[in-house]
Amino acid sequence: MKLLVKAAIQAQRTYFQRILLYRFTSDNSPLRKGLQSTEECGWLCASSREILSAVRGLVEVRQNFISEEEEKALLKELEPGLRKKRYEFDHWDNAIHGFRETERLQWGDVCESVFRRVREVAFPKGSSLLGPVHVLDLDKAGYIKPHVDSVKFCGSTITGLSLLSDSIMRLVPENNSAEWLNLLLSRRSLYILRDDARFKYTHEILKDEESFFSGQKVPRHRRISVICRNLPV
Ligand code: OGA
Ligand code: MN
Repeated sequence: MKLLVKAAIQAQRTYFQRILLYRFTSDNSPLRKGLQSTEECGWLCASSREILSAVRGLVEVRQNFISEEEEKALLKELEPGLRKKRYEFDHWDNAIHGFRETERLQWGDVCESVFRRVREVAFPKGSSLLGPVHVLDLDKAGYIKPHVDSVKFCGSTITGLSLLSDSIMRLVPENNSAEWLNLLLSRRSLYILRDDARFKYTHEILKDEESFFSGQKVPRHRRISVICRNLPV
């Protein structure tokens, strides 16, 4: 029985690992803390004007995309399953630390209407979504290292709803690790990464100690993200 459980956990882990293609950046370059350009929108902050214009239209954060009631409905469906799992901290080479995760195909009406809205605003018309929605629960001490989602299994668009906590997502161009963009992912927001922003930049979720936006501390509490992706064409 124990072995079976172990095999099942291993199989699930392999499934999720496939989604991530790890591209670690080894440095925490001081350049990241240098000059900053902030976009008028208030959720985007970057190392230079050039990089801001490079991602225009490819990166988006919609504040208050879901209501408090919708957040509650999502949590109500997700918490019982998540509570049965333990946060994983063990593997130094994983892209994600301090997390538990699940996937879900069937949702109640309130949640379904949220996903309908996500599909409408974020995905190209007619694109097929990866069947199950991916749910990632990060402990307060958890974080996600820089990586690019697998190009084999995921298409041009990645979206995420942020529940329970604000956080900072950082994008770094794969061909220039001195540049960066910080996205303020406020609680109940939806982020959208498209095309080059998804393929040519690593993304990461900063740990609490590093969680600053435009010089302001953004406390990172436990955070659940609900991620929709499309399939490659
Ligand atoms: C991922 C990922 C970001 C998030 O699971 O590949 O990048 O918002 N997650 O949790
Ligand atoms: Mn990712």
